[in-house]
Amino acid sequence: METVIRPWRSADSASLAEALNNKRVLDNLRDGLPFPYTECDAAQYIEAMLSAPPGSVYAFAIDCGGLAVGSVSLTRGVNIHRRTAELGYYVGEPYWGRGLATGAVRAACEYVFGHSDIVRIFAEPFAANAASRRVLEKSGFRLEGVLRANAFKNGAVLDMCMYSLLRPSGR
Ligand SMILES: CC(C)(COP(=O)(O)OP(=O)(O)OC[C@H]1O[C@@H](n2cnc3c(N)ncnc32)[C@H](O)[C@@H]1OP(=O)(O)O)[C@@H](O)C(=O)NCCC(=O)NCCS
Repeated sequence: METVIRPWRSADSASLAEALNNKRVLDNLRDGLPFPYTECDAAQYIEAMLSAPPGSVYAFAIDCGGLAVGSVSLTRGVNIHRRTAELGYYVGEPYWGRGLATGAVRAACEYVFGHSDIVRIFAEPFAANAASRRVLEKSGFRLEGVLRANAFKNGAVLDMCMYSLLRPSGR
């Protein structure tokens, strides 16, 4: 089944909060998101995405049967990195293992290469996040290296991995 990605809607705040209000999801993301993560937090995020300057961030809900069960976003860099974008994603735990993240990552990257001047998309999962690394590998990303001791998360120094996908030649 093809994964559906679509723009965020104000009505998604409850299902977004449900996906993100989970330590097992938050433990694999950067710090800065509150826990518990409330519907009000979700509404603020959706509003920020809908009002972001065009081309600065490409943010999509991962849709399953009309519900926003996850998120995939690409954020444009600045200065000399303005033609690269950082990829981030998550899926609510009840929906893991169905191929949703892989489908969403592929569709979002395809969209961005087709609708922007971005030439490089990168992602930096924690090295121990095997599921996320697998999503990237299945989506055609290349492992460029291990970023040793690159993060401090939940009291531990962690390695991260640098993965990238380049714009297909001729596009
Ligand atoms: C990582 C995450 C997005 C994956 O979402 P998903 O929809 O379950 O991903 P998919 O089903 O498309 O693919 C997952 C792959 O990882 C594999 N996998 C899952 N857990 C694994 C593990 N512990 N070890 C090795 N592989 C694992 C699955 O078998 C699958 O690969 P396969 O198709 O070859 O069998 C989801 O688990 C999540 O949201 N995690 C928390 C947030 C997060 O880690 N975000 C990414 C930050 S970089």
